[in-house]
Amino acid sequence: MPVCEQLTQPYTDQKPGTAGLRKKVAVFLQPHYLENFLQAIFDVETSLKGSTLVIGGDGRYHNRVAIQTAIAMAAGNGISKVVVGQGGILSTPAASNLIRVHDAAGGLLFTASHNPAGPDGDFGIKFNIAGGGQAPEALTGKIYEASRTISRYRLFDGGSVDLDRCGNQQLGDTLIEIVDSVDDYAHLQQSLFDFDLIRAWFKRGGRICFDAMHAVTGPYAQRILIEQLGAPAGSVINATPLEDFGGGHPDPNLIYAKHLLDLAMSADAPDLIAASDGDGDRNMILGRGLFISPGDSLAMLAAHLDKLPGYKNGPKGGIRGLARSMPTCRAVDVVAKALEVECFETPTGWKFFCNLLDAGRLTLCGEESFGTSSSHTREKDGLWAVLAWLNVLATTGKSVQQLADAHWARHGRHYYVRHDYDELPVAAANTVVDSLRKALPSLIGSTHDDWTISQADEFSYTDPVDGSIATGQGLRIVFGDAARIILRLSGTGTEGATLRLYLERYENAADKLAWPTSDALAPLAQTADRIVRLNELTGRKGPSVIT
Ligand code: G1P
Ligand code: ZN
Repeated sequence: MPVCEQLTQPYTDQKPGTAGLRKKVAVFLQPHYLENFLQAIFDVETSLKGSTLVIGGDGRYHNRVAIQTAIAMAAGNGISKVVVGQGGILSTPAASNLIRVHDAAGGLLFTASHNPAGPDGDFGIKFNIAGGGQAPEALTGKIYEASRTISRYRLFDGGSVDLDRCGNQQLGDTLIEIVDSVDDYAHLQQSLFDFDLIRAWFKRGGRICFDAMHAVTGPYAQRILIEQLGAPAGSVINATPLEDFGGGHPDPNLIYAKHLLDLAMSADAPDLIAASDGDGDRNMILGRGLFISPGDSLAMLAAHLDKLPGYKNGPKGGIRGLARSMPTCRAVDVVAKALEVECFETPTGWKFFCNLLDAGRLTLCGEESFGTSSSHTREKDGLWAVLAWLNVLATTGKSVQQLADAHWARHGRHYYVRHDYDELPVAAANTVVDSLRKALPSLIGSTHDDWTISQADEFSYTDPVDGSIATGQGLRIVFGDAARIILRLSGTGTEGATLRLYLERYENAADKLAWPTSDALAPLAQTADRIVRLNELTGRKGPSVIT
């Protein structure tokens, strides 16, 4: 049997962050670096032995090599069956779905999401568990501990797999099934949305521009939007996945997809303009003449979800509950109140939604970082959000602008912005957080520009399903329903430390609903500057990225 055991030395930096282990490609290229982490997963998650494992990635540089290694190690660790996306390609939501479809014990997703790719870019691994969700913190903690003491790893050393040929292959005792990357995902979307109605909307002249940003969603968008829904040719741009994402930064937001904002503001703008990120879990939504912030998109979809086939009221459908991550604006809370359903506030990171989804308490959830999804899968799902918007446009016959105006008139508007301070020296970032943490108790009751601080604390979360507690999840300064300032350290950066400052302001008077966002938030930004002292303590002149 060509299963062999290799001796190895542990690395000490394999602690997964908000979304798995994410490092520079050069770090992953160190001897045994990838193998060590994979073996730590196989050692800790013993349920994988004798079971099915899903493997795929976002197609970035090093994807195919890493996938061959992962397959060989799966075969060396007694996995019965490995399901792999053709060419090693699986978007994150498609992988999560495949885990569910194949009743797999888990999945290995090779992605660093929207982070730039290529030899000088980033690489990453996410481990998802049975059911399709990201490994919870308790599990990633154990994997990290195992990675620090690892002394050997196992692999099948008897040939490789043809990743491009769909069908079954054998590696030792392990069956390798290469599957079409899109099929199951497309079936799933078809079961949720009214494809006939959307097709008719395109026939009537409805137009979309979807930007796949040379990343993983190209083949998915091509199949679903163009082939299945009949969107005009040319509706999907940058549709070919490239190993370096075309040298771009496939993070669909107002900075890295500014060309889409320009398109939305142009005279010939299509009805819907959208994009997804490197691994297909994020989404950006614009209409003719306006950008819909992720928090608004979540709230507006929540308000219309029961019109969509997969979410109609009935014994199986209907909206059970809504959720957002703590820094996400509270627009969805207002809708939850109107719908009389539960609304949960979770820490940043999709994994915190999964227990609630599994317990059937949640139908729709989202994050300010351009993530939206529903109970149909256990990851955020970029194309799902685009299809949901298409279905809402087709069902209501309204434009994005009309839908937004009606929403704000009824529920009020949450103006929202995020300021990122990237690549800070770790010590400087910690100083900012520590000094604000110290100041929090003294802030309560103080008044700034007509707003009074009602609450100032560090967010911690007790999971309503399993009682697990996550502490240190961001500092928040709350001015009742009127406004919030939030500060947290990013858990996905690969260089230095990134601080995120989130500003939210609520207005519901008819004459205050159409301000430019930057004007609406200018006073709050000044208040935040005085209280958080980000520029003063870091020596920066302002944020590196504003989204
Ligand atoms: C960021 C986002 C967070 C998202 C994560 C993975 O994490 O803020 O909402 O879940 O990427 O896509 P952060 O870098 O803030 O820890
Ligand atoms: Zn992503």
